[in-house]
Amino acid sequence: MILTLLKSRFADALSGIADDPAQLLDMIKSSQDPKFGDYQANCAMPLGKKLGQPPRDIAAQIVERLDVADFCEPPEVAGPGFINLKLKEEWLTEQVNGILVDDRLGVTPVSEPKHVVVDYSSPNVAKPMHVGHLRSSVIGDAICRILRFAGHKVTSDNHIGDWGTQFGMIIYGYKHFVDQAGYEEDPVGELARLYRLVNQLSDYHAAVNSLPDLEQKLSAAQQALTTAEAGGEPKDKSEKKQRKALRKSVSGLEQQVGSTRKIMEAVRSSPVVSSAADEHPDIARLARLETSKLHAGDKENLKLWNEFLPACLSALQSVYDRLDVSFDLTLGESYYNPMLADVVSSLQEKGLARESDGAQCVFVEGNDAPFIIQKSDGAFTYATTDLATIQYRVKELGADEILYVVDKRQSEHFNLLFQTCQLWGFEDLKCQHVSFGTVMGDDNKPFKTRSGDNVGLESLIDEAVSRAAEIVAENDDKRPEPWLDADARAAVSEVVGSGGIKYADLHHNRDSDYKFSWDKMLATNGDSATYMQYAFARICGIFRRAETTRAFVREAGAAVRISTPQERALVLQLLSLGEAIQTALTDYRPNILCDWLLSTAERYSQFFDKCPVLKADSEELKASRLSLCELTARALELGLRLLGIKTAEVL
Ligand code: ARG
Repeated sequence: MILTLLKSRFADALSGIADDPAQLLDMIKSSQDPKFGDYQANCAMPLGKKLGQPPRDIAAQIVERLDVADFCEPPEVAGPGFINLKLKEEWLTEQVNGILVDDRLGVTPVSEPKHVVVDYSSPNVAKPMHVGHLRSSVIGDAICRILRFAGHKVTSDNHIGDWGTQFGMIIYGYKHFVDQAGYEEDPVGELARLYRLVNQLSDYHAAVNSLPDLEQKLSAAQQALTTAEAGGEPKDKSEKKQRKALRKSVSGLEQQVGSTRKIMEAVRSSPVVSSAADEHPDIARLARLETSKLHAGDKENLKLWNEFLPACLSALQSVYDRLDVSFDLTLGESYYNPMLADVVSSLQEKGLARESDGAQCVFVEGNDAPFIIQKSDGAFTYATTDLATIQYRVKELGADEILYVVDKRQSEHFNLLFQTCQLWGFEDLKCQHVSFGTVMGDDNKPFKTRSGDNVGLESLIDEAVSRAAEIVAENDDKRPEPWLDADARAAVSEVVGSGGIKYADLHHNRDSDYKFSWDKMLATNGDSATYMQYAFARICGIFRRAETTRAFVREAGAAVRISTPQERALVLQLLSLGEAIQTALTDYRPNILCDWLLSTAERYSQFFDKCPVLKADSEELKASRLSLCELTARALELGLRLLGIKTAEVL
């Protein structure tokens, strides 16, 4: 890897000048503009500052000691003290020819592989999967693929929520409201309906109970505001502030009253739901009771649970199949149930857990909230299960590292979990919450359907595929004779549609919220999978026109020679995959690999515009450029595959 090589030479040059070169070595980067060479080192500036010497002098000292003559032109010092490095053309040519037949594109596996358990997707079953689960599934899957390619041992684990309070709700719903025919026809659909119904009825009673109090608070706040306003304009800053706070509290309460009334009206507007609400006033408590009974081993509830679960899992599986996402393990929360009591006693024995308000809690220094591991009614929690899971993953699976690809709103939970684990005795384990933001709709609110429901994952994939089908058909119809029959069109649309969804998610910085846009997702020019697919299909087109195949070109192995700046830029890019992978894995950010793919496609397009392939000046140049095309196709294919995206040769 070029960057590793440069870093090791810089480390030698810096020893004796800097005591802690690690940070300085991170300042060697590929340069943005070929004017400044291929790579640029900016370490002389901070070092000069630290040593109180002019950065240009420091840069000159570093260059003096830097031994890179075997692969670089003499380094140049520019501006305030940048060190510009240009690779020797012969060396670059040798490198690119070295990877012509290498499936890994010259990326060597890590020397110290770790066993990483990746916890991702992990939906709560018996609720329909929604767009939030897409993020975890797609990001988690990409991270697993990249880690494996880098040479690590990976165990992917779908930690499904199959033991939580939603089961009590479904069991209650099933016992009182099931539509038997509907259940037989579509069990998961009916269970989802029951879940929504029980939820709605519980919310209704909570709303009814809270409304009088809310209304009273609102009228008190309104009164306080009226009284304040009766005194005329605020006299000073503090009064102004007070007035503002009052207004804010009135509008906040108005909103709460509004949404509470809405919940009630929704129930009252349907006679069936309304009478169900009247007949089940205590539904929330009774549904919780069903959960406790299940956890305590109640025969009937366990039987229902065992009946519901396979149907839920197979519904999940059909989504995973379409997304081409898979897991080594699917150990849901229920798996850890038998271990939970021991977790609590172990934490008590170690003096970490103690009683507080009847609950067993771990208090971790620096955190206001305690980590509750057993509630006052004896129930274990999400936290207890996660602690048991860590113990299992370390002791039974031999994990060195665990990644949790979970919504950033759970960061407090993971913070407490990781700190508790440290205290509990897992000091050597590295844990990371690989957090992600929310998918937003056009209105800048979490992405919902028009009726306000979460967007189901299946319907999202369906829509992406049907939109992709339009693009595929349009392209094919433009040809004098269409190439694709109906089956081929459907297959390509599935690749373009699901790839589009994945890339649209992966190319954002995972921590940020992003706005969902169909147009951007399937845009044929820009940062989208479709653009990469086009670039790939365009390369495949060259081979068709040359009446050859990629395999043949690869087999022939004609040497690449660099004769234009575009070829040089493309070659440099192709040789930097290892760097992109390393950076992507530093903080588990697949978007770094998306950036690499985008640059690759862009540099290819610049090459394609300026460097004729089939009409090259000589046969030798044509062969060289065909080799470069084949290598680029392989690079795009590999990069996309590491993101879990398939390619189609024709689009
Ligand atoms: N089931 C949880 C949810 O949907 C996510 C679980 C994440 N993994 C974990 N080990 N806590 O919110």
